[in-house]
Amino acid sequence: MRVGVLASGNGSTFQALVDALNVEGSPATVTTLVCNVPGAYVLERAAKAGVEAVVIDHSRYTTRADYDARVADELASRATNLVCLAGYMRLVTQVFLARFPGAVLNVHPALLPSFPGLHAPRQALAARVTITGCTVHYVDEGTDTGPIIAQASVPVLPDDDAASLTARIQREERRLFPAVVKAVATGRVTLEGRRVIRREVIA
Ligand code: GAR
Repeated sequence: MRVGVLASGNGSTFQALVDALNVEGSPATVTTLVCNVPGAYVLERAAKAGVEAVVIDHSRYTTRADYDARVADELASRATNLVCLAGYMRLVTQVFLARFPGAVLNVHPALLPSFPGLHAPRQALAARVTITGCTVHYVDEGTDTGPIIAQASVPVLPDDDAASLTARIQREERRLFPAVVKAVATGRVTLEGRRVIRREVIA
């Protein structure tokens, strides 16, 4: 399975996907990175890993639909089967989702449906919860509202700040996201309507 990754920034999630998937015998390979931010560090990571990278600066597009169509064209022209949003700080439109039906995944740094949107670890601290985590889900048009595939929890410790909690959550993201991609690539996870069918536990 050919995986395209969309990312906007540091790219530690992109790195985790490449490290886990771009190895001999893997059922999925990261073949393309699309980054919407010129100069983002994730582009250096792609160059080092030998993954083809395309920069599509969203600020040059007047509508989200035009931008999404261009991103979809780039991925489709490289025979992409699965799209992973990995620290991609944009909502995707129906224009994009219609090109990759049931084949767009996102990782979010909270136990959805709690704390969708921006700054999820900060939201968790403000709510004074004692457990949070991360979620890998199929993407729909909403903000972090798509069908949930797998989740991992982490404790919120009394002396946590946003940085320490984010680091603990991201350790789990880097483990969980590649595991989900492998499960999707081997048909152990599928989507029927909005219902996720799991043929094994991914934790
Ligand atoms: C990750 O923690 C990811 O879950 C989060 O951004 C971080 C990106 O880190 N995504 C979102 O909050 C999307 N709603 P990275 O650039 O090092 O991969």
